[in-house]
Amino acid sequence: MSELLRVEHLRKYFKTPSGLLHAVDDISLSINKGDTLGVVGESGCGKSTLGRVILKLLEPTDGRIFFEGRDITRVTDKEKVGLRRRMQIIFQDPYASLNPRMSVMDLIADPLRTFRLYNRAGRREKAFALMDMVGLSRRFASSYPHELDGGRRQRIGVARALALDPTFIVCDEPVSSLDVSIQAQILNLLQDLQEQQGLTYIFVTHDLSVVKHISTDILVMYVGAMVEKCEAKELFARPLHPYTKGLLSAIPVPSIDHVREKVVLRGELTSPVEPKPECRFAARCPYATDICRREFPVYAEVLGNHFVACHHVREINALE
Ligand SMILES: Nc1ncnc2c1ncn2[C@@H]1O[C@H](COP(=O)(O)OP(=O)(O)OP(=O)(O)O)[C@@H](O)[C@H]1O
Ligand code: SF4
Ligand SMILES: [Mg+2]
Repeated sequence: MSELLRVEHLRKYFKTPSGLLHAVDDISLSINKGDTLGVVGESGCGKSTLGRVILKLLEPTDGRIFFEGRDITRVTDKEKVGLRRRMQIIFQDPYASLNPRMSVMDLIADPLRTFRLYNRAGRREKAFALMDMVGLSRRFASSYPHELDGGRRQRIGVARALALDPTFIVCDEPVSSLDVSIQAQILNLLQDLQEQQGLTYIFVTHDLSVVKHISTDILVMYVGAMVEKCEAKELFARPLHPYTKGLLSAIPVPSIDHVREKVVLRGELTSPVEPKPECRFAARCPYATDICRREFPVYAEVLGNHFVACHHVREINALE
């Protein structure tokens, strides 16, 4: 198992009229080849910004990014173009991200044209092969995005992401805009493609149940910061952070003897603008004490390969 991506103390701050907005605040992670890291958290917690900074679509404020063993934190525009072929993104809303005036064939061949790959006939061949790969019938080649349903539109998004044979894809809520019945089809497709092509994913979602089966590890974010990270199975079996417990309480549990301690997520999210030195979850946390409102909790390994940022994680979970 070799490491494909490593991120160290990554920060992305935006200047806003009311002060610096800490969209991504000290995130560190690593992903091995062929694995999927699920990144979970509520709207606005910085998931998309994290994905975009890693893909070099946004410049980081601080921290470092290593990809395929190379430091890519600061790269030239020319090097960025090279990275585009290796690292791709699948967007949440395929409709908004696809040019409505381009046919399916042109949309899928577009990345090949941008990178001047193949001649016209070759691009057509490759686009058809990509359509086969993503389960989009060739009869849709001359259709336009608005003529297709959401699932087929997202298959175009997947085909475009795969066109340049990348090794790494940020899937940014790729099923959130789809009907539940279609979600599983797209998730299965992404998993099959991962196996066939040896792809590595970051899978961003606000919905933990979506990443349960496809993630190797899961990172839970809250207002820009990491609150918990461990193997996916471990997170569902033994969530340690009160926020993760809250997210899991919101998922219906089918088995009746699987009673989980409930943490209900009430109240507003803390503002990411000029955050105070405190636990950002304190305003909503049933276990919050003075220290939580005074000091940022350190993100540390609490159990083997299970990392949590919470002052009271041991008491809450009755750990030694
Ligand atoms: N270009 C920008 N300028 C200023 N603030 C920004 C910018 N982009 C994002 N933000 C802010 O950064 C924070 C994180 O946004 P981001 O889109 O990364 O969250 P997210 O977790 O992807 O949310 P969602 O689930 O809604 O997609 C939010 O507070 C957002 O308002
Ligand atoms: S540090 Fe305090 S407020 Fe934050 S999650 Fe832990 S107990 Fe709750
Ligand atoms: Mg987002």
